[in-house]
Amino acid sequence: MVKLTLLLAFVGLAAAAPFKLNNGFPNPSPSALAEIQKEAGGTLPNTPLPTSLKADAIQSLQVIAVNEIFETAYFSSLLHNVTNNVHGYTDFDGLSRDYVIKSLKQIRAQEELHAIGANAILASAGAKTIGSCNYMFPVTDFKSAITLAATFTDLVLGTLQNVNKGFALDGGQAAEGLVPLLDSIIAQEGEQDGAYRLIQRKVPSAAPFLTSSAGQFAFNAVDQLFIVPNSCSQSSNVSAIGIPAYKTLTLSTSSEKPCSTKDTTLTFKTSESDVNGKHIAYISGQNKPVVVPVQSVNGKTFKASFPFTKGFSKGLTVAALVNSAGPFSNAADVANATVAGPGLIEVD
Ligand SMILES: *[C@@H]1O[C@H](CO)[C@@H](O)[C@H](O)[C@H]1NC(C)=O
Ligand SMILES: *[C@@H]1O[C@H](CO)[C@@H](O)[C@H](O)[C@H]1NC(C)=O
Repeated sequence: MVKLTLLLAFVGLAAAAPFKLNNGFPNPSPSALAEIQKEAGGTLPNTPLPTSLKADAIQSLQVIAVNEIFETAYFSSLLHNVTNNVHGYTDFDGLSRDYVIKSLKQIRAQEELHAIGANAILASAGAKTIGSCNYMFPVTDFKSAITLAATFTDLVLGTLQNVNKGFALDGGQAAEGLVPLLDSIIAQEGEQDGAYRLIQRKVPSAAPFLTSSAGQFAFNAVDQLFIVPNSCSQSSNVSAIGIPAYKTLTLSTSSEKPCSTKDTTLTFKTSESDVNGKHIAYISGQNKPVVVPVQSVNGKTFKASFPFTKGFSKGLTVAALVNSAGPFSNAADVANATVAGPGLIEVD
């Protein structure tokens, strides 16, 4: 009896420990790669890779690699939890457990190939490839894990739009070699996202035009939410990417729920101590960012209006605490003025 209790306590501890990828990923052996491709339902592209890329394109691919490696860890952990009947991971709201396991295996392998593909392009262009860190996941049940997966996938879908714009305009090899590839990944992540929304009983497609984002927001989201602090080794090259670290920006849980039918006021928390006089910029759909002043500042807590009916899109809105009243023409412009963020707000 005593033994059993001890064992259970140990299992509990082990499950809560930071998640570490240790199967050779993201540098699998040739036979492991063949297995991943089989599981993923397709192979890495066999068309020629760029041999040289501009600095911005390299930075974008490094951010993509950071994100895809994190996603691999996330879906590995989720698959582990479902496969091992971990508490909270046994109710799939009507989906069969076999179907969930089969889907998670395939999705994990697909994310692995996205990450391996990004690193292969970086290597081909003579740039630093990205390694894994240790990860933590702020969820302990299947439904919340899927809701969170939908949120970070929304952020990726927005970020890749901007990456593609950079690739198309930089005058180098990225337009020809990488834009169609990224388009295919955007659609692939969109397929995933529709399923995650369906599991939440949301309409599969959130809005006619999905919210844009920027590499800085994607990187900071993974760094703030999922990477165990100081767990990226020097050789992972994550700290060499050169994206500025923002302060955090989250919705205070006591705040009114963001709403699609009327304008509301939201309460935010930030790790930035100098909030007075700053603004919140919202990026929603393909519209010009909306900027509102912060109100009722109380240390690191403050309020800001959330004027959804002024042309916001359902699904993700990216919020940022910015040091200028704008106007901003796009997500990259907002990122350039951001002090804290991204705040990830999902409406319907
Ligand atoms: C898997 O379960 C552990 C233990 O409950 C939890 O800490 C972790 O966040 C879960 N992972 C995912 C991706 O849901
Ligand atoms: C970023 O913002 C600064 C002002 O804070 C401005 O001088 C600079 O031109 C901006 N850069 C870009 C790329 O928008």
